[in-house]
Amino acid sequence: MQKIMTWIDDRFPLTKVWNEHLAQYYAPKNFNFWYYFGSLALLVLVNQIVTGIFLTMSYKPDSALAFASVQYIMYDVSWGWLIRYMHAVGASMFFIVVYLHMFRGLLYGSHRQPRELIWIFGTLIFVALMAEAFMGYLLPWGNMSYWGAQVIISLFTAIPVIGNGLAQWIRGDFVVSDATLNRFFAFHVIALPLVLVALVFVHLVALHKVGSNNPDGVEIKKKKDAKGIPLDGIPFHPYYTVKDIVGVTVFLMVFSAIIFFVPTLGGHFLERDNFIPANILSTPLDIHPLWYFTPFYSMLRASTNQYTHGVLVVCTVLVAALAFFTKRGFKAKAITVIIAALMVLGLYTLQAKLWGVILMGSSIVLIFFLPWLDRSPVKSIRYRGALYKSALALFVVSFILLGYLGTKSPDAVSLFLFKNLAWGQVLTLVYLAFFVLMPWYTKIDKTKPVPERVTTK
Ligand code: HEM
Repeated sequence: MQKIMTWIDDRFPLTKVWNEHLAQYYAPKNFNFWYYFGSLALLVLVNQIVTGIFLTMSYKPDSALAFASVQYIMYDVSWGWLIRYMHAVGASMFFIVVYLHMFRGLLYGSHRQPRELIWIFGTLIFVALMAEAFMGYLLPWGNMSYWGAQVIISLFTAIPVIGNGLAQWIRGDFVVSDATLNRFFAFHVIALPLVLVALVFVHLVALHKVGSNNPDGVEIKKKKDAKGIPLDGIPFHPYYTVKDIVGVTVFLMVFSAIIFFVPTLGGHFLERDNFIPANILSTPLDIHPLWYFTPFYSMLRASTNQYTHGVLVVCTVLVAALAFFTKRGFKAKAITVIIAALMVLGLYTLQAKLWGVILMGSSIVLIFFLPWLDRSPVKSIRYRGALYKSALALFVVSFILLGYLGTKSPDAVSLFLFKNLAWGQVLTLVYLAFFVLMPWYTKIDKTKPVPERVTTK
């Protein structure tokens, strides 16, 4: 064995990589439950790629054959039903795991200096993942696939001047058609998976450059022993490889339970309307995307003329006033006034439909800026004050409720008193306020002293 290893090491740095990234890579000793989701995201990524390869062997990217080829996979291909359910349920599990992984960042301030790039690569992964899921959803060529793609691509028509041409260019046709299916297939099976894998690679390279954060938000590299090993660090292998196996085991139990007993999860993981072939003459009663997009879909639908001309103008003026009176220096105040004036002008002149797209886009773009919006002197929620804790709680509630409302008709009353549209409008503001007001509430929040070393409670 030793001889083989020496032979390999003379030609490829296997032992060096193993030591640097596993056996002698020191991670904080206080990782908890929230640290399972990075390795689980890796597992689901591998699951999607492997099951995707097998699905591609029998799937036909042709609008006349696609739907039937999926039925063929389900009924005739050996174990085809299992591979398909692993892939379709895997997509939802990917979002569950990634949302929890991102939430961990908000809990422990993992986006903060020096991990800004890990966070930015992570957010890019999230955007790529959304594109990957959106394009994959068209492939079964069910009725919801078809109309979902139609609605989302038509959003681009809201862009002034180039909108119509752009939407046509994306579809490759005047409506969603065979040309659209073919290009979405190409993006879904090769282009985006390559981008995702490359982004995950740089995400982990950046992580291993600075080292992991931990539930205390203490930098373990600041306290090292005589050999240069962090006092609060333990080798990733075997300690965390074994810990992650526990996470993987529990995850696989949940994953298999869903696949074998409730693969559609009552229409949440696989839509009822998608068991009907795509039909250009029959629009589903209520078009909405799968659950992982519905929070953003609610924000898209929140925009109406009254909302943009009234509520959003008032909010813009209030935030601008806050910035004006708290920012020092003439230049900062002048920039605040100019931006606010442009915003108000835009709110009055641009279509409400375009503002829906802008609101939805901002809800994702703002995630990139989190490392710079957060001004708290501490990272972890354990040492933050009531303001951040309340803001985070409100943010999570708004995200979940927006997700729920996105599955319902905007005209119905699904919560209480008000129509879903009104609730969507209020909750969109709560979601955006979490980011926009962050520089202020994190600055004035009363924090607790952070310990010198990590705690193991
Ligand atoms: C395919 C998707 C992803 C994969 C495979 C992945 C993988 C990982 C892994 C293995 C870790 C180290 C283990 C851990 O800390 O849990 C990690 C850490 C991290 N990830 Fe991701 N990640 C993904 C998506 C994201 C996204 C969408 C974000 C945020 C927008 C993100 C932000 C972070 C941050 C900030 C850390 C450092 C956490 C800390 O040290 O406390 N990741 N990621």
